[in-house]
Amino acid sequence: MSDEDKKDYLAREYSDWELFTRLMGYTKPHFRIFITALITMFFSTILSILQPIILAVAIDEYILPKNLEGLELISLAYLVISVVSFSLNVISSYYTTITGIRLITQIRTDAFYKLQELSLDFYDKEAAGRIISRVTNDVERLLNLLSTGIIDAIVNVMFLGTLFFILFYLNPILALTVLIIFPILAIFVVYFRIKARSAWQRTRRALAKVTGYYQEAISGIEVSKAFAAEEFMSNEFKVLNLDNYEARIKALMLFAIMFPVMDTILALGTAVVLSVGGISIGAGILSVGILVAFLSYLSRLAQPIMTLSNFYNDLLSSMAATERILDILDRTPSVIPRSDKMISEMQGIIEFKDLTFSYVPDQAPVLKNFDLTIPAKATFAIVGHTGAGKTTITNLLCRFYDFNQGEILVDGVDIRDYNIPSYRKWLSIIPQSSFLFSGTVRENLLYGNPDASEEQIEKALLRVGAFDFVCRLGLDAQVGERGSRLSFGERQLLCFARALIADPSILLLDEATSSVDAHTELVIQESLQNILQNRTAIIIAHRLSTVRSVDQILVIEEGKIKEMGTFDELLNKKGIFTNLYEKQFAGQEI
Ligand SMILES: Nc1ncnc2c1ncn2[C@@H]1O[C@H](COP(=O)(O)OP(=O)(O)OP(=O)(O)O)[C@@H](O)[C@H]1O
Ligand SMILES: [Mg+2]
Repeated sequence: MSDEDKKDYLAREYSDWELFTRLMGYTKPHFRIFITALITMFFSTILSILQPIILAVAIDEYILPKNLEGLELISLAYLVISVVSFSLNVISSYYTTITGIRLITQIRTDAFYKLQELSLDFYDKEAAGRIISRVTNDVERLLNLLSTGIIDAIVNVMFLGTLFFILFYLNPILALTVLIIFPILAIFVVYFRIKARSAWQRTRRALAKVTGYYQEAISGIEVSKAFAAEEFMSNEFKVLNLDNYEARIKALMLFAIMFPVMDTILALGTAVVLSVGGISIGAGILSVGILVAFLSYLSRLAQPIMTLSNFYNDLLSSMAATERILDILDRTPSVIPRSDKMISEMQGIIEFKDLTFSYVPDQAPVLKNFDLTIPAKATFAIVGHTGAGKTTITNLLCRFYDFNQGEILVDGVDIRDYNIPSYRKWLSIIPQSSFLFSGTVRENLLYGNPDASEEQIEKALLRVGAFDFVCRLGLDAQVGERGSRLSFGERQLLCFARALIADPSILLLDEATSSVDAHTELVIQESLQNILQNRTAIIIAHRLSTVRSVDQILVIEEGKIKEMGTFDELLNKKGIFTNLYEKQFAGQEI
């Protein structure tokens, strides 16, 4: 296992046996195909083992005695056996390869479902890059083993066994000579494999660094341009890329040396067999045909040794990869409902009762004995310093994290009792980042309600004031990654429209902090008023116009409600809100 692999965070350790049986478990539904492929491959191999014997018969019985009658039949048999053996091989490989690809596609789908299912605390701990590497590279690494790998290994063990049996049967002395060559070849191949493995590992690490640098350079392109750091970045990249180049050259050089050295060892074997065989023929204890058969067998010795050592490598790296994949597949979401209550209608009465919560167990709580009741269809704003716990309140209401001290009730029922998808259907969130998925405007709008009609879309766009610019772009225009082809204000309006089309009973809005011009501010404010109608809303507020228009404002500090009231009430109080107002909101006065 490489250092990088070791750094991976695993929820638990797996024994080698467990890894192997779990991996094999995946092949179970395809067991019949595997058995068929194994049998096909076995016959293909047996036929190919017969070929040198036919050669021996042809030489000893027909060519040397100059008995040419029947030689064409023997030649034809040789050809037919070749073709049949080859065809069986192709059929077997075809089925196993297809099965292997099917299996890794299945594993990848399973992993995707699991990643969608897992709760947010998993993503707090795991770096995105590492998760992605597991479901792409690691899954890919299983392909060889799950397709032809295992069958090839089994068949090659059988091949070597049968081969030695035949060799000893034909001529024990020559068989012993071959038996001396065999370990030399095997030791060399194994030694070479170990060297090549570490060389390839170095290449892989170097390539990972190059890829990572590319990724960072692309996402930070604005910053590097703004700091005129293009040349610096390029020079840094050159160093990394050179490392990758050198590692690759080293690995490839090893391969370049390997085959000539193997040929030399085989040539040594051929020389020994030739001399021992020649002497034996002279002594009349060996026929020419058998000698030719031996030479032919000798040339076939390298392949199975290579295949078996390859298999061993594949097995090791597949086990390491399996461990990292199972670590994802075996996780369970931390947020699970206590019972399975479905919701057919939601009024949107929200009650927080004595709620205490911390993200990390045993750490000081982020929310402390939090109590609050929000009547149906009211709009509440939350304000407070950064880190006060505002987002945490909405995170818990969305069931993104589980909690166990205190309760949150919606329409009088503890939200932990609701079936989660059924509950979330009634909830919409407009995130601070105005996140859009890459795809078309329409796809983004339908995200929360795939069945919405054209009319509903149009109405929503009109109500949030996005109709004009969407008409200009077209509903089928691509928005780009994260909506990068749209202006910030446009992204926000589309998020509003998306929430409106989903028509939730509870709306959670994390207001964007970035300032927009007075006109856009006005458009956003108007559309906000439109989408707030007829539903309960909690707004984490950053705009003066928002705090002015809501029913109640909560001032949060250190996870507690410090002040609560309408805008005017709080200003008159001359407390924390007044202070906050002067620092944060008063500057926005137009
Ligand atoms: N996923 C998390 N894991 C651990 N701690 C977290 C996590 N999210 C937030 N916290 C901690 O909880 C506290 C409250 O965070 P929260 O996001 O609720 O603040 P906020 O009031 O929304 O701040 P801001 O105005 O900056 O968005 C912070 O001290 C933060 O460090
Ligand atoms: Mg926040």
